[in-house]
Amino acid sequence: MNLQHLLLLPSQELCTWALEKDQQDPLRRFRDRFYLPQRSGEPLIYLCGNSLGLQPKAARKAIDQELTTWQTHGVEGWFEGEESWLSYHRYCQQSLAKIVGALPEEVCPMNHLTVNLHLMWASFYQPTAQRYKVLTVSGDFPSDQYAIETHLKFRGYDPADALIEVAPREGEFTVRSEDLLQAIEQHAHELALVCTSGLHYYTGQVYDMKSITTLAQKHGILVGFDLAHAAGNIPMQLHDWGVDFAVWCSYKYLNSGPGGVSGVFVHEKHHNASLPRLAGWWGYEEARRFEMTKGFVPMQGAAGWQLSTPNIMALAVHRASLAIFEEAGIENLRRKSEELTGFLEIVIQRINHRAGIEKIKLMTPISPSQRGCQLSLLVDREGKALFDALTAKGIIGDWREPNCIRLTPVPLYNTFEEIWKVGQALENYWQFSS
Ligand SMILES: Cc1ncc(COP(=O)(O)O)c(C=O)c1O
Repeated sequence: MNLQHLLLLPSQELCTWALEKDQQDPLRRFRDRFYLPQRSGEPLIYLCGNSLGLQPKAARKAIDQELTTWQTHGVEGWFEGEESWLSYHRYCQQSLAKIVGALPEEVCPMNHLTVNLHLMWASFYQPTAQRYKVLTVSGDFPSDQYAIETHLKFRGYDPADALIEVAPREGEFTVRSEDLLQAIEQHAHELALVCTSGLHYYTGQVYDMKSITTLAQKHGILVGFDLAHAAGNIPMQLHDWGVDFAVWCSYKYLNSGPGGVSGVFVHEKHHNASLPRLAGWWGYEEARRFEMTKGFVPMQGAAGWQLSTPNIMALAVHRASLAIFEEAGIENLRRKSEELTGFLEIVIQRINHRAGIEKIKLMTPISPSQRGCQLSLLVDREGKALFDALTAKGIIGDWREPNCIRLTPVPLYNTFEEIWKVGQALENYWQFSS
């Protein structure tokens, strides 16, 4: 995919190109499966799926169905009907597994992301006198930073000593893969765990999860990822890469609603190991859970880390949304995503070309293999003014302090024409004529 020929095309011809792309888009029918937020009766250009994905139209029906079960069966809803609530997590496992590249029993929807991060750490952070340090990237999402910092303290370590953070080089926005790998190599003898995001929330950078895992595990170090910004955004192969654990949320690219259920991956190789864990009754062997006996017997696989009675309404929405991914296919979505985000990059390059200077800097890597849907933009001094101008034009991205605009075309519901319109709005802002 090379879109460079679009750089100098007159605006009207670019528009024609975008409309043709939408016409030829094999995934175009999926846009109609979502509610597009509106202003004055017009759909907004929603480029904020990195924060909160749009509502699938199927969500309401899915909730209605469970409300009906509750209404007609009461507590027996847990056991009665073809789709009893007791096994509800199972209805999501197959589709989730395809999204993150796992076996169905390696994944389970449960809890919330930060909760799951602590749960996974309870099992996978196994410090010894020599090896107690953890390697991560600097500036990861605050909740992850707080979880790691407090978890280390909780286990009796000083984060200032036990936490190794790999930062971008001076003057660069993103961490070089070779620096990350070199840091793992350098600290291997003292590391218990490598734990980072898979796709950085601020810069949009995708880390080389496969190489990180291979190298760390060569040295006997366990590896976990926070995939909040990766799940449903980029295809992954967690099982084949041998990743030990991963967690994610479902309210971004997985479109499962605000505060939707989180997900967990635990590699098959750990299913029969007697890892320490923090348990609750919902992780207990399902067939015997209601015997209410003493002594915890976990379910096989990731489901054995469940804690509490699941929120069925949240799971119902999640399931309805996952069905869309099942139908569209994560690889097909990725194909479109690379082009859509590539087109947004061109639209930005056109501005810089017209201005003769770099009006908009991209923090996100240029290489499609190192990014997903999101582009993070930096505009000297007038970043917030530009963001407000885009919002006024009905273009919804998000602003992240201190100076970042995140714009995220999502292949399930965004169009090439919308990206062309973003280009028009940028041209208008700097008052270039078309
Ligand atoms: C990378 C990352 N980690 C953690 C979180 C926190 O997730 P939760 O509030 O669901 O625990 C977020 C939320 O946006 C996130 O983007």
